[in-house]
Amino acid sequence: MNIILTGFMGTGKTLVGKELAKGLKMSYLDTDKLIENREKAKIPQIFQEKGEDYFRKVENKIIKEVSSLDRCVISTGGGAILKKENLAALKRKGVIICLSANPKVILKRTSKSQNRPLLKSKDRKSQVLSLLGQRRSFYEKADFEVDTSELATSEVVERIVDFLRKKSGGS
Ligand code: S3P
Repeated sequence: MNIILTGFMGTGKTLVGKELAKGLKMSYLDTDKLIENREKAKIPQIFQEKGEDYFRKVENKIIKEVSSLDRCVISTGGGAILKKENLAALKRKGVIICLSANPKVILKRTSKSQNRPLLKSKDRKSQVLSLLGQRRSFYEKADFEVDTSELATSEVVERIVDFLRKKSGGS
């Protein structure tokens, strides 16, 4: 079984994923990193030179590949599960955990990052609110959600581990 982390940009997928994998002694993978390695380019460069559609095609290929692995914690880019096929592939062997955060926290956590082409906007607040609105129904398809707004990474990990334990019948 794999553990898949999804959720909006800035909700902590990378930090939480790494710590969760360490705690559960599972391998850790990040689909954005795999895309960058495959393309030998950073994400903003891929968006700029080849466009979002191209990025989504590579993302789809990588998702199909990682979905067949086992015992991995996989952090996915915030837009990955918007594609039905990606969600279905990831669900086949994975439990889907969605990390969320309130818009204020998302804006704060992503304010210094230059590597998120979708948030490059004069009005970042409206951009975040609009994307969150468009994506809510997709993120709701996850098996479990943790609001990370007020939590430390270790607390988010604890909640996920707790959920997984209950799910597998432990107490
Ligand atoms: C995206 C999120 C990014 C990255 C790309 C697109 C999105 O990943 O995949 O910039 O559509 O939400 P993070 O969620 O890790 O920032």
